[in-house]
Amino acid sequence: MEPLNRASLEFLLNHPKTGYVTSDVNTETIERRSFSPKKIKIFSSKYTNIKECPEYKLSNNKEATKLLPDVINNNVQRIIPGDEITEKVKKAFKKRRNLGVFFSGGPAPGGHNVIAGLYDEVKKYNSESKVFGFLSGPDGLLESKYVEITQSLVDAYRNMGGFSMIKTGRTKIDSRKKMESALKTCRDIGLEALVVIGGDDSNTNAVFLAQQFKSAGIKVIGVPKTIDGDIQIKTDDNETLCAISFGFHTAARAFSQNISNLTTDASSDIKYWHVCKVMGRVASHLTLECAFQTHANLSFVGEELADYTDHQRIEKAQKQGIIDYTAYGITLRHWSRLICDTIVRRAACGKNFGVMIIPEGILEFINEIQVFIIKLNTIIADYNRIHDIDFHTSFPTLNTKLEYLRRLTRGMGEQNKFSIWNLRDDDLFSQLPSFFREGLLVERDTHGNFQFSQVKTEEIIMDMVKEYLSILKEQGKYKVGIKRSYYMSIMKNSKLIPDEIAEIIFKNPEDKYLLIKESIISLKTLKQVLINSEVISQDDNIPEPITRIFKKSDPKFKTQTHFYGYDGRGSDPTYFDCNYTYNLGITAFHLIANGATGQMAAIKNLEKKFDKWEPIGIPIAKLMHLEERKGKLELVIEKSLVDLDSNAFRIFKVLREGWMAADENPDRYRRPGPVRFAGIAEEDRPITLLLNSI
Ligand code: FBP
Repeated sequence: MEPLNRASLEFLLNHPKTGYVTSDVNTETIERRSFSPKKIKIFSSKYTNIKECPEYKLSNNKEATKLLPDVINNNVQRIIPGDEITEKVKKAFKKRRNLGVFFSGGPAPGGHNVIAGLYDEVKKYNSESKVFGFLSGPDGLLESKYVEITQSLVDAYRNMGGFSMIKTGRTKIDSRKKMESALKTCRDIGLEALVVIGGDDSNTNAVFLAQQFKSAGIKVIGVPKTIDGDIQIKTDDNETLCAISFGFHTAARAFSQNISNLTTDASSDIKYWHVCKVMGRVASHLTLECAFQTHANLSFVGEELADYTDHQRIEKAQKQGIIDYTAYGITLRHWSRLICDTIVRRAACGKNFGVMIIPEGILEFINEIQVFIIKLNTIIADYNRIHDIDFHTSFPTLNTKLEYLRRLTRGMGEQNKFSIWNLRDDDLFSQLPSFFREGLLVERDTHGNFQFSQVKTEEIIMDMVKEYLSILKEQGKYKVGIKRSYYMSIMKNSKLIPDEIAEIIFKNPEDKYLLIKESIISLKTLKQVLINSEVISQDDNIPEPITRIFKKSDPKFKTQTHFYGYDGRGSDPTYFDCNYTYNLGITAFHLIANGATGQMAAIKNLEKKFDKWEPIGIPIAKLMHLEERKGKLELVIEKSLVDLDSNAFRIFKVLREGWMAADENPDRYRRPGPVRFAGIAEEDRPITLLLNSI
């Protein structure tokens, strides 16, 4: 046998090409690491100063006034050039400092740039200054686990996604003991200030820390992070202070690229409806942005569904002289009907495929599910309050949890007393599929949030959609429209007269898309119609072209479900998020250097062009309100939901009918392309922000 002429493995492994293409660091990473985000002009001044802005009014919550007395009277602060400041202040600016920082909550693209901005700025004023990163979120602070952030560490993560540099966590700092541990850690390292990069709950942590640390002279600054986009801050006079949290744009773009690829696949393979659930907790901001980015056929905004009224029911009730309260607000059943309506309408125009986007938090707006969520929250909280072992440890499986709920209803019967969980709840709950019940019973996170990401909303709703579509199919109302030109071409070579047959089998023989009559729901009923019309006799078979047309009109409803969340959260940041977050880090430094505490570093005018961006500090205490968490009222930062009066939502309402394309027009899918951090093709801010700035 001839010896094989192949290179030795050693030669291959040592070859420069092998080294290049298999390196962990590829060209994209190298480019990202060396990319320099833009700096807001004010930061080119050598020093900065703070201007108090009481004209930006934010009203105080009574409970916040009581619990956060030392930071509740903070004003909005603008960072302005500080060329006029005294020599003493300039010297103080350049002093050696120790700062601490940690990530908190779910990852959001751009977090590393906040640290990079903070690090670069602190070192610019004094190379001896130090930044410490607490590991795994608040736990690092409580357990004194940290690393010193070095130049090489920062450089490895510039413009890169995730929070992998120092990891993150979701611990709530909610006890005196935890506060004391946090303070001890800060004192031991000699921290001047702590920067908390997190969402609403983490900024809630931040403001309580600011209150506790005030007397110790340690400052605390929050940074608005979350892909959910639910940190949007306006003054009482409706002036926008923070248009969006960081990470939102990237996550929306990452989800949109995937969703957009599905629109291409759906319109190529023409056999699937792709159902895309996207993250965002309660708020539907991400869904709305993805709708604009992709022009998917159907996108639901939970906040709108909450306002849903079923006009048919109201009319029917009015005729009977009664009021039908179930006509107000949406139920799972109503919602599934709305979906079916679009599916049927598109199918009638030959498009038995499509892409729909649903927000993960939509359940919050569905009447019966919202009631379950609130009741279960209370039951679990009550249980935990009086038992040493918590609810989920005591009842680890679905069956044991259900048995406990059943006991509650039995107890009510036996002791003749009121229970939050009654027989009707138990009955309705047991009608839900077990995977869904399991999702609703899943453990709340440490902040008491319902974990929407753990519930397979897309599956339960699609089961209901499938069920109703099969009823509509039985009734002959769900059919695929046949293009008239296609019908003509099929009939061309037969002896049949197309126009005559069309009159017999179609309900709209003159239209561009022909729909088989509702009474024809099977080959048997078709044959009967042809016999009755004397096209064929009893012993004949249905002519082959007619069978073909019938089969083509018979819809098969096939779905593919997708969940977009963790993938987009881990994406590398867009150009917008790279610039935004780097400047947030710098802003945090300047707030600290100017003595601020209890403030959230933010950029005003984000919704406008970069040269209009303004670094500010927003008093976190003034953003607090009381909210039900784990069955009791807690002081937390108010989440911002989609404003149905916003420009973006109003424009969406007008355009969505076109994107639905339930007519003979082609689909109008948009291709946002991949997440980019440079290049002229990259948009400079989210579409919803751009629209809201008009
Ligand atoms: P944050 O509020 O911490 O930014 O969370 C964002 C988020 O991605 C939500 O969209 C999602 O519901 C949740 O985190 C998922 O939580 P987990 O990471 O615990 O699964």
